[in-house]
Amino acid sequence: MNVAVTGSSGLVGTKLVAALRGAGDAVRRLVRGDARNEDSFAWDPAGGSVDPAALAGVDAVVHLAGEGIANKRWSEAQMARIRDSRLQGTRTLVRAIVAADPRPRVLVSASAIGYYGDRGDAVLDESAGGGSGFLPDVCRAWEAETKAAADAGVRVVRVRIGVVLSPEGGALAKMLTPFKLGAGGVLGSGKQYMSWIDLDDLVRIIQFAITTDSLSGAVNGVAPTPVTNREFTKTLGGVLKRPTIFPMPAFAARAAFGKMAEDLLLASTRVVPKRLADAGFSFAYPSLEGCLRHQLGR
Ligand SMILES: NC(=O)c1ccc[n+]([C@@H]2O[C@H](COP(=O)([O-])OP(=O)(O)OC[C@H]3O[C@@H](n4cnc5c(N)ncnc54)[C@H](OP(=O)(O)O)[C@@H]3O)[C@@H](O)[C@H]2O)c1
Repeated sequence: MNVAVTGSSGLVGTKLVAALRGAGDAVRRLVRGDARNEDSFAWDPAGGSVDPAALAGVDAVVHLAGEGIANKRWSEAQMARIRDSRLQGTRTLVRAIVAADPRPRVLVSASAIGYYGDRGDAVLDESAGGGSGFLPDVCRAWEAETKAAADAGVRVVRVRIGVVLSPEGGALAKMLTPFKLGAGGVLGSGKQYMSWIDLDDLVRIIQFAITTDSLSGAVNGVAPTPVTNREFTKTLGGVLKRPTIFPMPAFAARAAFGKMAEDLLLASTRVVPKRLADAGFSFAYPSLEGCLRHQLGR
């Protein structure tokens, strides 16, 4: 297949491009700025333009681009960048998909479990409603931007991605240094649920979404065993063979990370992958310990 990928230089995109190519697919990257080689095509997500040749002959599009969620403190300006990069980028891409002739058959578009918001112990499958607050609002609007592609007959899969675990980036990479130093510990009450996914399983989920014609709409991209922060802390400490005796109280997390602490670290979101299970997807790393041992080589 011919697959076009946005955000291909990111944590997920880098692994996905390698996996697609390894499986024999031809991949073209949609890159911001100048296209550097014959596999790259320029797009300007904020400016609204896509190289007209970028989608010619493309079977599937995977849309991962967006301003990093946890790269910087959430000032008003940064929150606007997080939101606008997703809404404008998706609008730009979807407009190009709808205009393409022939159109790609499928769009797999990233969303996030942030859609569900802070929901305590409630078990959330794809039929659960969205939450309230900054991230749920962003995710709702981000997903809504893909509707025009679905209306035009393109199969659209919106993968609500959980916390991606890899030592190469994202949440786990940030935690590794303090945990390796024995300075890791429970965050806030430790009772908040964290819905995670092994990076390699996420890449396989995206490939599965591309090839599974029966799949469309929202699909939770999480492992089947969400854990509390306390369980996560204990498991990571155990895999690294380090003590985890330094808790970070909620007030300290808020002081250190600002508003992001509330939405990303202290919020409880217990999400399960019902639609993937129904469609017969098989996880290579369904348990947290197995995922961490795989990712960390321990
Ligand atoms: N990692 C996670 O734990 C996680 C969890 C839930 C959801 N997600 C979502 O899944 C997608 C991929 O995640 P990821 O971890 O691979 O993200 P990432 O490492 O932050 O990469 C995202 C890519 O988007 C592009 N990008 C960066 N800033 C941008 C901007 N202001 N406007 C437009 N494009 C921009 C960049 O690619 P180019 O430079 O090549 O354009 C970047 O490499 C993201 O949309 C993310 O929100 C990730």
